[in-house]
Amino acid sequence: MPNIFPSIHPLVAHKLSLLRDKNTEHKKFRELIHEIAVLLTYEATSDLILHEINLDTPLARTTAKVLSEKVCLVPILRAGLGMVEGVWNLMPTAEVWHIGLYRDENSLKPVEYYKKIPLEPDVSVCLILDPMLATGGSAVATVDILKRWGIRKIKFVGILAAPQGIENLQSHHPDVHIHLAGIDDTLNQRGYILPGLGDAGDRQFGTG
Ligand code: PRP
Ligand code: URA
Repeated sequence: MPNIFPSIHPLVAHKLSLLRDKNTEHKKFRELIHEIAVLLTYEATSDLILHEINLDTPLARTTAKVLSEKVCLVPILRAGLGMVEGVWNLMPTAEVWHIGLYRDENSLKPVEYYKKIPLEPDVSVCLILDPMLATGGSAVATVDILKRWGIRKIKFVGILAAPQGIENLQSHHPDVHIHLAGIDDTLNQRGYILPGLGDAGDRQFGTG
């Protein structure tokens, strides 16, 4: 599938299995979300553009490569918040923009309740952070917002997806690269991913 990048890294697969286990308690669950987010972001940023600079090492003058692109992290509240810290440590100069969406329980459509984005964005690539791509409604709405704000290079860094969510995001935004730890079978009637890992927000924040 074009622009879909399920990780094949054994560490990601192992940590995803621990995340799925219903006996994994909240603290461990948060740690796993943090760790998987870092591993997936390492893969998702492998095409960032570099340029050369001159610098002095303690021994000699040399040319070296540094990032050209300014990166922005966009966690979808609330479950995406747990993915921010580790990714931000990797790229401490990244901006973090917050978008608050929740799914209406009946329609499963995303409802926007918060948005903190600079009026004049000065970034070239946005990484959307959200563990779950279920129906895809939240991801599509977030990409819509970012594109309206003028962002062209957008990647979705998730943890688990259902085929329906991938299909929805791809059909609306085929240019968005989707990085995942796993792709599951389907959704249940309440829009939860099966076999999945349950409610990613509740399991992180202890509200389940
Ligand atoms: C979850 C998840 C995604 C969304 C995915 O958030 O974190 O944002 O559902 O579902 P979709 O692909 O069908 O849109 P939720 O609405 O449960 O809110 P929360 O993060 O505040 O728990
Ligand atoms: N949101 C979750 O937290 N889990 C799912 O399986 C689907 C949406």
